[in-house]
Amino acid sequence: MLEIGKVRADELAKKFGTPLMAFDLTVMRSILRQYTDSFKSETLKTDIIYASKAFNCKAMISLIEEYGMCLDVVSAGELYTAQKAGYDCSKVYFHGNNKSIAEMKMALEGGVGTIVVDSLPEAELLTELASGLSAPIRTLLRVNPGIDAHTHKYIVTAHDDSKFGMLFSNEEEIVKTIRLLQKSPNIIFDGLDAHIGSQVFDKRAFIEEIRMMFEFAGLLKEKYEITSHSIDLGGGFATFYTDEDAPIPIDEVCQTIVRTCEEENEKIGGFVNHILIEPGRSIAAAGSYTLYTAGFTKKTLNKNYVFIDGGMSDNIRPALYQAKYRAFVAGKEAQTPIKKYTIAGKCCESGDILIEDLSLPQVDTGDILIIPATGAYCYSMASNYNKLLFPEVVFVEDGEARVVIRRQTLDDLISREV
Ligand code: LLP
Repeated sequence: MLEIGKVRADELAKKFGTPLMAFDLTVMRSILRQYTDSFKSETLKTDIIYASKAFNCKAMISLIEEYGMCLDVVSAGELYTAQKAGYDCSKVYFHGNNKSIAEMKMALEGGVGTIVVDSLPEAELLTELASGLSAPIRTLLRVNPGIDAHTHKYIVTAHDDSKFGMLFSNEEEIVKTIRLLQKSPNIIFDGLDAHIGSQVFDKRAFIEEIRMMFEFAGLLKEKYEITSHSIDLGGGFATFYTDEDAPIPIDEVCQTIVRTCEEENEKIGGFVNHILIEPGRSIAAAGSYTLYTAGFTKKTLNKNYVFIDGGMSDNIRPALYQAKYRAFVAGKEAQTPIKKYTIAGKCCESGDILIEDLSLPQVDTGDILIIPATGAYCYSMASNYNKLLFPEVVFVEDGEARVVIRRQTLDDLISREV
């Protein structure tokens, strides 16, 4: 019987109801420790920024803070949650391609440490808003090295039309933006930031990114006397969903990144003194599960459907990205699969299928179905489609489960209706 944080999965389902998201903190802590232990350099300062878009709630942010990690937020909502978690906002990196004036003011007034500037118009607005600041705000400039890395593939000079950052070939505008930031007494230009994709399996994509980023930093220094002290390489480290996935072990990818940065820094004269990464998925998915109760079943010409008490409302990823998951039946983990089931949700949408044609033992109404690795980008992308309720979320460790987000209620659902 599958245990999550030393509690039997069926007991969790019984105690908290389903759909339930459960995080095994022992597993998550081990990933966090792998990051903090291996993303280290003798010559460069290193920082790990948790990309909270993967899963953002007060408990998660407090956990991240325990490990001394910084925090990436992209909206007032994500920042507000960090503030309410009591997180030290000087370690917040505020990302986003279209921050509103209200969000920028909130960041400046809330003591956010770093704003990742995405464009020249944003830099112009920031210089205006920062004019009254008592202490200067640090900035990084989001650039686009033209690498598009998704899952197993990476392509150099692929994604020139990305809405994020400024293309290297747009050198003139990049320099103009940095000069503008540098001119303001209340703004510190600290360096460059990029993010090349998500669920990246190929180390070469990161190596290529590092080469291009340091080379570009070298060019800015040589040609324009612009010094980038920090280089933030973004996130994208893959996690394990199914047997098709072979993520690079965290310590291996971290060590490769650090080593490559040290080498590339030396080539350009060693003026970079700080490197950063922004993992989201690989942390939030670690040790995570969604538990559902199997409802009715239905046999069609080609499919054996088993319907669950959630679906695309709590996990849009299969419908949106054709993302693949695996599943177990609680208590039947050791049984031989007898047929292929298609696990479908309860939304009024034919595409509301979480897993297609998965070999499982006999599934009966009332069984608990467990889908692993749902911690990243499922709750954070959940919706109330069909007015289904957001699931309960628990952190489980050493036999104790603690609710970190309570289940939404019907009254919550209509609470904003007037
Ligand atoms: N930094 C930046 C600037 C990002 O845009 C992202 C993710 C990350 C870091 C974290 O990347 P990660 O380590 O999680 O791969 N909703 C999609 C994923 C979108 C990722 C967006 N940006 C999904 O469910 O697959």
